[in-house]
Amino acid sequence: MNTVHVCASRSYDVKIGAGLLNAIGQEVRAVTGGSVLVVTDETVAPLYLAKVYQSLTAAGLRVFTASVPAGERSKCVEYYVNLLNILAAKNLTRTDAVVALGGGVVGDLAGFAAATYLRGIPLVQVPTTLLAMVDSSVGGKTAIDLPAGKNLVGAFHQPSLVLCDPDALNTLPADTFRDGCAEVIKTAILFDPGLFAHLRERGTGFDREYVITRCVECKRDVVCADEFDKGERQKLNLGHTIGHAIEKCSDFSISHGQAVAIGTAMMARAFYPNPAEIEDVLRAFGLPTETAFDAQSLASAALSDKKRAGDTLTLVVPRAIGGCTLEKIPVTELQAVIEAGMRHG
Ligand code: NAD
Ligand code: GLY
Repeated sequence: MNTVHVCASRSYDVKIGAGLLNAIGQEVRAVTGGSVLVVTDETVAPLYLAKVYQSLTAAGLRVFTASVPAGERSKCVEYYVNLLNILAAKNLTRTDAVVALGGGVVGDLAGFAAATYLRGIPLVQVPTTLLAMVDSSVGGKTAIDLPAGKNLVGAFHQPSLVLCDPDALNTLPADTFRDGCAEVIKTAILFDPGLFAHLRERGTGFDREYVITRCVECKRDVVCADEFDKGERQKLNLGHTIGHAIEKCSDFSISHGQAVAIGTAMMARAFYPNPAEIEDVLRAFGLPTETAFDAQSLASAALSDKKRAGDTLTLVVPRAIGGCTLEKIPVTELQAVIEAGMRHG
């Protein structure tokens, strides 16, 4: 088992090890008192909830459970309020905890409930998707969506513990696993030539414990440098400006991971000296690198983002593997960047 220690406004461990779900009771017992609410979704529940429930109760914890439908639509005000009502009905206090068992949707939703119930109670993240293990469970961002857009309501609330069991990935559908790989490749391009080389050599047969650990260490470093997303942390948005535009133009029929892969490939073609190096790795993971949407539609979708303010936007520019920079451009130049990202050679 590997342990990565995160020193943010709250210090906590991220533990990564095969079989960790079986030991979740002792692990959670070490960070919290008497009661826990395990929040999961209807796909993850039949796979892992019984095992988790059994381990938590065997460790002497009082366990309540709540399950939401699988998918982004559960990250909404209605399910958030339902969770708050359950926490209140079961009389959970600040010495109790919420356990988020699932992907990034459950992590963000349960995390936001934990962040706000009683002005904040402990949260244990138990990510079961690759994306959640390498990205969303670490760093304290929690959120729900509004009809006006994704993640528009949220809070920074660092977990007290994160438990990643790579064995949980064995049940993940192939396309969900691939989506997570896009974020892994993104992390390697941003921060770690050694990780990039490992992914290039091993493809989807990468060493899971090593790769998850390296991604968590990279995320830890960036979160510790900029917990509240004022600068360095924005690097995690590599490929996301164009990626979000692709998601929006496709009416969300193109998944987030696929859209980020295309966005990353386009940024590589626009700025990276040898874009084929990045495109080849994305393709080796079965990820797309091209889009059929035109530059004008993509630019206007990107610029309609409600969280963007002012006449400039910040792009994450891949100059070298492990050497990406934040660069401000006038919004009027975005379409030209996208056009450059569509050109080959
Ligand atoms: P998800 O949570 O919707 O999970 C994807 C699918 O996989 C779901 O259907 C889920 O039920 C299923 N699943 C989960 N674990 C499984 C397992 N072990 N076996 C079989 N099926 C399993 O999606 P995701 O990709 O994990 O997360 C996406 C969400 O994360 C988005 O809402 C995004 O905004 C958020 N996010 C948050 C942060 C952050 O820092 N907080 C960062 C990136 C993404
Ligand atoms: N995944 C974006 C962040 O944690 O900042």
